[in-house]
Amino acid sequence: MRILVTGGAGFIGSALIRHLIRDSDHEVLNFDKLTYAGVLTSLEPIDADPRYSFIQGDICDADAVRSAITEFRPDVIAHLAAESHVDRSIDGPGEFIQTNIVGTFNMLQQALGYWRALDEAGQAAFRFHHISTDEVFGSLGDEGYFTETTSYDPRSPYSASKAASDHLVRAWHETYGLPTLITNCSNNYGPYHFPEKLIPLIIIRALAGDPLPVYGDGSNVRDWLYVEDHARALRRVFEQGAPGQTYNVGGNSERRNIDVVRTICETLDRESPRTDGKPYADQIGFVTDRLGHDHRYAIDASKIRAELGWEPIETFEDGIAKTVRWYLDNRGWWQAILDQRYDTGRLGKGK
Ligand code: NAD
Ligand code: DAU
Repeated sequence: MRILVTGGAGFIGSALIRHLIRDSDHEVLNFDKLTYAGVLTSLEPIDADPRYSFIQGDICDADAVRSAITEFRPDVIAHLAAESHVDRSIDGPGEFIQTNIVGTFNMLQQALGYWRALDEAGQAAFRFHHISTDEVFGSLGDEGYFTETTSYDPRSPYSASKAASDHLVRAWHETYGLPTLITNCSNNYGPYHFPEKLIPLIIIRALAGDPLPVYGDGSNVRDWLYVEDHARALRRVFEQGAPGQTYNVGGNSERRNIDVVRTICETLDRESPRTDGKPYADQIGFVTDRLGHDHRYAIDASKIRAELGWEPIETFEDGIAKTVRWYLDNRGWWQAILDQRYDTGRLGKGK
């Protein structure tokens, strides 16, 4: 198949592309604007492969999207391009509205024009796969799980923009018949994760001897999904998922933030001990909470398991160990980001 991936220079998009080039025969076009979050070095392991190509372009630019689609003639559009960081959406929501809502509208319009011109077999085979988040469902208490039928209740500018984009995708299926798929997944982690997100931020700040900022009292819970498990799920969904369907993707690994941070510290104590012999946990500090901080996310992933046979294979403990090892072994990848783009300082205090 020919897969057009938007946002392929990002964390999850690059994991998907590495997976597709290494473990399938599919051809991949990466269409990415290269915002602050787009890191082409994440694709170095596969970028010389003839089945991989790259176009720098903006999903809001109708002409650029149309010409990429008409030239590449995709069987699948895997739409991952987005502004993805909740704290940045608190500081500056405008870019989230533009990219996540207007950009998705534009992708749908261009995909629809292309799909309508395909022959019958091409139309039947085509899929527009929209990659979304569990944050559209809002915040859980200590019990319960998000299912595919949970009502939408987004609470941050980021999650509201993703919810809007999900609604547009569903509307393009119901109204125009575009064969769409939506996946809503939980917090990803793993190699090539941009240092603004909790897990890489804690690893990098710990190694630098900086304070480790835990928002609020650290009791917020996230359901951690290893990014390579997620890449396998995405492929399973666009290869086998039924048009019009939504699938939740989760890691079966709920953890409180403070426990995540402590696990990282203990792993670093073993793998790269502090020169003064003290534990990294001494660097942990509780800081002012995120505005509108959702308490808990947890995914019920039984539908994708029952209907498509996918489930996560990575345990949180093994995944964190692999992730910490990767950051220790790939300092060049993240040091370039610290030097040029983002220095791990606090975001999202609101302006
Ligand atoms: P990311 O921030 O790491 O990467 C986003 C990519 O999109 C970057 O390469 C960036 O350059 C590109 N991009 C941004 N605006 C663009 C535009 N206008 N045109 C073209 N490209 C543009 O994001 P991620 O963490 O890899 O997330 C990918 C998708 O998965 C997003 O849609 C996000 O909402 C969703 N998601 C992420 C997570 C997670 O834990 N990271 C969880 C659930 C859902
Ligand atoms: O649930 C899926 C979502 O997961 C995705 O849709 C988002 O794109 C992705 O960024 C992620 O959102 P979160 O807000 O959950 O991720 P983040 O890494 O920013 O924060 C994880 C938790 O850790 C959250 O409860 C806030 C907390 N946190 C975060 C940072 C950056 C801290 O305590 N300290 C920090 O420094």
